[in-house]
Amino acid sequence: MSKKFYITTPIYYPSASPHLGHAYCTTLSDVIARGKRMRGYDTFFLTGLDEHGEKIEENAKAKGITPQEFVDEVAVKFIDLWKTMGISYDHFIRTTDKSHVETVKKIFSRFAKQDDVYLSSYEGWYCVHEESYWTETQVGPEHLCPECHRPVEKKEEPAYFFRCSKYVGDLLKFYDEHPDFVIPEGRKTEMINNFIKPGLTDLCVTRTTFDWGIPINEAAGHVIYVWLDALTNYISALGYLQEDDSLFKRFWEDPETEIVHVIGADINRFHTIYWPMFLEALGLREPTHVFVHGLMMMKDGKMSKSKGNVIPVPPLVEHFGVDAVRYYLTREIVFGQDGQFTPEQFVDRLNIDLANDLGNLLNRTVSMIEKYFGGEIPPYEGDLNDLDRNLYDAARETVRTYESLVDSLKVTEAYASVMDLVSKANKYIEQSAPWALAKDPEKKPLLASCMAHLAGVLFLAGELLSPILITKSNDLFDQLGLAKEERTYEKATSLSSLGGHRVVKGTPLFPRLDVAKETEFIKNLMAAPKEKAAA
Ligand code: MSP
Repeated sequence: MSKKFYITTPIYYPSASPHLGHAYCTTLSDVIARGKRMRGYDTFFLTGLDEHGEKIEENAKAKGITPQEFVDEVAVKFIDLWKTMGISYDHFIRTTDKSHVETVKKIFSRFAKQDDVYLSSYEGWYCVHEESYWTETQVGPEHLCPECHRPVEKKEEPAYFFRCSKYVGDLLKFYDEHPDFVIPEGRKTEMINNFIKPGLTDLCVTRTTFDWGIPINEAAGHVIYVWLDALTNYISALGYLQEDDSLFKRFWEDPETEIVHVIGADINRFHTIYWPMFLEALGLREPTHVFVHGLMMMKDGKMSKSKGNVIPVPPLVEHFGVDAVRYYLTREIVFGQDGQFTPEQFVDRLNIDLANDLGNLLNRTVSMIEKYFGGEIPPYEGDLNDLDRNLYDAARETVRTYESLVDSLKVTEAYASVMDLVSKANKYIEQSAPWALAKDPEKKPLLASCMAHLAGVLFLAGELLSPILITKSNDLFDQLGLAKEERTYEKATSLSSLGGHRVVKGTPLFPRLDVAKETEFIKNLMAAPKEKAAA
């Protein structure tokens, strides 16, 4: 039986058009999902939209359309963007899906029956933008939302509350027993210090002041507050409490399934405090990891449409290619930290890593095999000298490092280790000096061995990078003359001989970019009129 892996992105609010920040989170998850599938895991990858809430209701009203029409329009934009980015999701959930709505209602009824929720009234500082209530201390004397710094408003309304007090002890015990539940661990400490230690208040789970939400059966006028609705998507998408719950049984109920939620730091609280409590109340297992990534920032702070610093993704992909954008997103933000987008770094990254290192390695290797061996890759006949041995030792070590880093969700580092191997292979060419070997007929075996090693490393690097380079890895395999059915993880990582394959020289994998011209292109995109940028 293959190992099971279930990975989710947050479900995005359709209140704004998707931008590079959203693409970052989804691409990272996609790279992880593809990497697991490549290694034979039974994988399910979920993304989708969080379509209820007051803000959507207000946006729709402002446009003179119904909330459903509004979310339907935005959903198309997200689905198109994911297509452009090559996102290989298995299911796209929308919280307006009938099946999701039914599951949420049933969950609420169960909470009501178990006395996990109670009716009371809520007074607090509410941020419409974040759809969150905050305490007096959190909003400070200026009454600003601690998350988005917009003014908050005082509100009181009848509401149901979830008894967090009942579950907080279980949560702390769970944290203790699963030290790697929140990755990186510091994000858990933040939650304990900022929310649990000061005293966790019960969570408001219904609202009565707007209509665009899932109504509950227990009382008229209440709709489910957006976070209980939203978090539930991770199980409703698998069929929890639905007639066909086969996916739920296959992925969630199996304690062996590795379940990973990838989220941004701004929604950590909901995923690492309330979600485990809801699951505990339902008697369900917890996810294995919540991976909290940093945000992709611009020079002037968080990317936002109102600041006019949004990078529109489709023209970026159209101009640089999907693989280049995916590569940049995966490589640029280091594990758990915030990253900063600058056009210069974007272009440099593509030039240095993809055009110079990887593109050049392929180009040089294919040219030399053509020149010295008439285009036929010589067979691998063992390591003939220390240089050969060191390169293949490094290649084997890269596979181990790559797997262990990806498995601990250090995705950026995992791919950095593959690129490190590519650099080593370029150095190996310099040190082996095949052009000198070619001059001496007695050195032919060494020359052949050098080509065989380079072909093996290129195959391996192409395979390990294929979760990112979804189109160019195939171009690389084409140039190595590999048949489709040979392009497997097992074959690439075994470094077995590619002797006899005929290389096929193609165009460079990644063209070298003119830094001044290309940074200008990106700057123009950022300065594009808002309607164009939002496309
Ligand atoms: N709807 C909620 C999530 C519910 S999940 C059960 C939500 N939506 S959101 O659209 O506002 O944000 C979705 C995700 O996008 C969050 O993880 C957030 O961190 C991420 N990002 C939004 N802007 C981002 C960047 N600039 N950089 C990286 N991620 C960003 O919150």
